[in-house]
Amino acid sequence: MCGIVAYLGEKQAFPILIKGLQRLEYRGYDSAGVALLNGDIAIHKTKGKVSDLQDYVKGKKTDATVGIAHTRWATHGEPNQQNAHPHFSHKQSLAIIHNGIIENYAPLKEELINRGYRFKSDTDTEVLINLIEDIKIKEEVSLEEAVRIALNQVIGAYAIVIISNDKPDELIAARKGSPLVIGIGDNDFYIASDATPIVEYTKNVVYLEDEEIAYLKKGEELQIKTIKNQKKTPYIQELEWNLSKLEKEGYEHFMLKEIYEQPRSILDSMRGRLNAKKGIVSLGGIIDYEQKLLKAKRIIMIACGTSWHAGLVGEYLFEDLARVPVEVEYASEFRYRNPIINEDDVVIAISQSGETADTLAAISLAKEKGATILGICNVVGSSIPRTTHAGSYTHAGPEIGVASTKAFTSQVTVLTLMALRLAQIKGTIPKSRFMQLLAEMETIPGKVEKTLKSAAKIIEISEKFQGVSNFLYLGRGYNFPVALEGALKLKEISYIHAEGYPAAEMKHGPIALIDENMPVVFIAPHKGIYEKIVSNIQEVKARKGVVIAIVTEGDSVVKGIADYTIEIPETEEIFTPILASVPLQKLAYHIAVLRGCNVDQPRNLAKSVTVE
Ligand code: G6P
Repeated sequence: MCGIVAYLGEKQAFPILIKGLQRLEYRGYDSAGVALLNGDIAIHKTKGKVSDLQDYVKGKKTDATVGIAHTRWATHGEPNQQNAHPHFSHKQSLAIIHNGIIENYAPLKEELINRGYRFKSDTDTEVLINLIEDIKIKEEVSLEEAVRIALNQVIGAYAIVIISNDKPDELIAARKGSPLVIGIGDNDFYIASDATPIVEYTKNVVYLEDEEIAYLKKGEELQIKTIKNQKKTPYIQELEWNLSKLEKEGYEHFMLKEIYEQPRSILDSMRGRLNAKKGIVSLGGIIDYEQKLLKAKRIIMIACGTSWHAGLVGEYLFEDLARVPVEVEYASEFRYRNPIINEDDVVIAISQSGETADTLAAISLAKEKGATILGICNVVGSSIPRTTHAGSYTHAGPEIGVASTKAFTSQVTVLTLMALRLAQIKGTIPKSRFMQLLAEMETIPGKVEKTLKSAAKIIEISEKFQGVSNFLYLGRGYNFPVALEGALKLKEISYIHAEGYPAAEMKHGPIALIDENMPVVFIAPHKGIYEKIVSNIQEVKARKGVVIAIVTEGDSVVKGIADYTIEIPETEEIFTPILASVPLQKLAYHIAVLRGCNVDQPRNLAKSVTVE
C-alpha cells in the first residue's frame, strides 16, 4: 500500500508528482503530500485524496525541479496531516517518503527519544528518517552511508526516497519488500511504486531489487549498491505499455473500463498459448517445470482476495481435468500454521499486483521447504514473479480500479490453460474432449463480448435493489467460487453486506436470513448439477426470497421460477466461471454507482496490500 513518486531533473517537479500520485492513488488514498526542494525543503501535506492536496497547495509556491510525493494507506497512526508523508527529520535537513512497515520502530524510537529526538507523528517512517539523521551526525558519515547503516538496523519492509537540503541535485532510494521502479529519462530520473507514473516520460526502467540502494545525481548515471555495500550494475528494461492503458478512455470509471476490456484481456491471456486447430496449449514461462507438475502429488494454490477465488476455480479445473489433488490456501493463514509442504508439491501463487505481502511470505515459506513455486501474476517485473521458480503472466494490462475484474478472468484463463496442458501430458483427458475444450476456449472472448451487451436488465435490477442491506450469492461446483467473488465485488464497492455460499450449504444457516427483502443471486448455468441448483432456487422461493439468476441463454426452467434472470451464452461448464462473473461485476458496479460510492477507490481498501 501507499504510493510513492519522486522526480529529479530539469522539469517542474510538482505537476509530475501530482500526476504520478493520481496514477498511484489505487494503492492508498487517506492522505497525500509532497516535498519540494528549492533552497530549503518545503513540505505540503493533507488528509484526504490527491485532489485535496491539490486544493491545499493552491496559491503556495511549488517551483522546484526536485521533489518527492506520497499517497498513504495508514498503518501506523491515523490518517491525518501529521501522519501524512513526507516526513522531515528532526533538524529538517532531510525528508522521506516510505511505503512499508518498520517492524522494530518502537525500540529505535525509544532510543532516539532518549537521545533528545522529538517526534511530530505516530509513524514508523519518522523514526527511520531520524535514525538516518542521527547516524549521519553521530558517526560523521555521508548521507549515503548513513542510509546504508540505518537500513541494516531496521526490520521490516520499505520502499523509500530521501531528499536532503545539502544535496539539492540528488535523491536516494531503497527497497526491501515494497516495490520501487526508477525511470531513466534523457536528463532526468523518475521514481515510483510502479511504472504507471513513469511510462509517459520514459520507457527505460530499472526495477530495484530487495536490499538495494539507488543513488541518483543530476547529470550522472544511476548508481546502485546493496545495503552490504556491493556495487550492482543497473539492469535497464523497456516498458511495453502505452499510455492509453492508464487512461479512462471515455469510461466513467476505471472499473467499468476494465470490465469492458475483458474480451481483449482474456484474449491477451491466451495469446500465443492456445492453438485449437493444432491441439496445442503451451505456456512458455513454465515449460521447464512441466515435469515437476506432471510428478506433483499435490498442487497448493496460495493467494488473497479475488486471486484466492481464482485459485478456487483452479481447484475445480485441476482436479477435474488433470486429476491431481489441489488445496487452496489463504496466504495469510498458510504462512502462520506450520503447513506440511513436501518437495514434490507444486505451489501456484496467484496475484494481480505481484506484491501482496502475505502471498510473498507464503512463497518464501514453501520455497524454504523445497516446493516448486509457479506464479500467475499480472504486473510484469513485480516481486512475486521475481521470487517464484517460474510462472505465467496474465497479460491483462494495468488494472487500476481497486476491485479486481479483468485480472480475475485472466487468472482463471491462465489456470484453465495450465490445467488443460497438465491434463494433456498426464493423459487424463481423451484427445477428442481435449480438442473440443480448446475449440470452445477460443470462443470465450467473443462470448464475453456478448455477455457485456446485457446492460439494460442489470441496470433495472440495480435500481430495484440499490437500497437493500444484504445480498446472498449462491453457486455450486465451478460456480461456487463465482458466488464468493460476486459477493466480494458487491461488498467492496457498494458497502452492502453480501455473502457467498455453496448453494446447498444455504440450508445450514443462511436460509434463516431469507425473507421477501432478501435478494439471492444464483449462478445457475445449464451445466453440471443444474437440477440440484434448481431445487435450491425453489427452496429460496418457498421462503419468499427474491431470486436473481444467471442462466444459460434459452433457459426456461429457472426463468419460470426466478424473479429476474440474466443470460450468459451457452458454453462448456469449465468456462462458465469466466462468463458468469461478468454480469456480477456489472451488477456490483451499477449498484455502487447508484449508491453514490467511489467505485474505483472504495473506502479503507487498497489495491496492492504490501502489509500483512
Ligand atoms: C487487495 C485488492 C484485491 C485483491 C487482493 C489480492 O485486497 O483490493 O482486489 O484481490 O488485494 O491482491 P493480489 O494483487 O495479490 O491479487
